[in-house]
Amino acid sequence: MIPDQTIIAKAVELLRHGELVAFPTETVYGLGADASNADAIKKLYAAKGRPGNHPVIVHLCEISQLRDWARTVSDDALKLAKEFWPGPLTLILPKADRVDNRLTGGQDSVGLRMPAHPFALALLRAFGDGVAAPSANKFGRLSPTTAEDVRTEFAEQVSLVLDGGPCQIGIESTIVDLSRSSPVILRPGMIDRLSIESVIGPVLLPNSIEGQPEVTRAPGGLPSHYAPKTPLRLVQRDELRELLQEESSAGNRWAVMAFTSRVFDLPWILADPDPTIFARDLYANLRRLDRLELDQILVEQPPDGSAWDGIRDRLMRAATKEI
Ligand code: TXA
Ligand code: MG
Repeated sequence: MIPDQTIIAKAVELLRHGELVAFPTETVYGLGADASNADAIKKLYAAKGRPGNHPVIVHLCEISQLRDWARTVSDDALKLAKEFWPGPLTLILPKADRVDNRLTGGQDSVGLRMPAHPFALALLRAFGDGVAAPSANKFGRLSPTTAEDVRTEFAEQVSLVLDGGPCQIGIESTIVDLSRSSPVILRPGMIDRLSIESVIGPVLLPNSIEGQPEVTRAPGGLPSHYAPKTPLRLVQRDELRELLQEESSAGNRWAVMAFTSRVFDLPWILADPDPTIFARDLYANLRRLDRLELDQILVEQPPDGSAWDGIRDRLMRAATKEI
């Protein structure tokens, strides 16, 4: 898909004037603001309803821009950027002095990513500097994977939504924190742990770090995140069968997403056994089931294995109701 240069020029103009512009990335749609404009950042947090201590990612279009935003760029950071950028990987690095504390939630590090979607790259190139962009959803809700999702969520709060079609990766980028003594995957994604380790060696997962304040560092780490409005329950295949056999006749208003084809007369989505397709369609599928306004969404637990880590993480968070 080739972006229309007039629309890109309009988007750049709006960003320069401190307005918010939503744009597609290969993972999910982002809500963009000029990362060097304090007022625009304030507007961004207000629109999202996001607490001020939750940092946002700055989007770049060249590896060389890393030095504008990070105080130090380690060898590991360069290796990962060269291997995976543009792509669904965010690096957390020590922040440069110029980086506004509002972007970092008051922390000494900054999140940086070069997205691969042609619209995102065209926008970033034309803008010429960093664009701060969280996922274009209200705090705690499912991330948008189409322009329509963004419009539904924000109506007139966003000046322009660039429509680059449905996102191909479908879940948010993998976040690797390189600002500590050892690299840590703060948020799993479709670039999986094994792929990261093949480039920089062993990495830790957040639950293996002693007493770390994970919640402030990555709010994607809050238990209830990426959640549909309908309560979601993750179940093993056997458990699903039993539940449905016991209860479906009792008139339960349930919807199902499972790897086995529909066996009960309920709204049913057949989940794809390929994790890249499962992830691509995940949020759209959950939105579809959510719109039915039933009492519960039952989701069959995806397989083990690092290719499914990001998907399992999002489903677990969607399934937790306590914030
Ligand atoms: O795929 C993505 O990453 C999408 C697209 C739009 O690029 N963006 C996205 O942004 O998911 P957001 O704001 O919804 O999630 C960013 C995550 C948050 O969990 C945030 O805490 C973490 O990145 N993050 C950003 N800066 C950080 C920092 N300095 N330290 C730790 N975590 C950070
Ligand atoms: Mg988000």
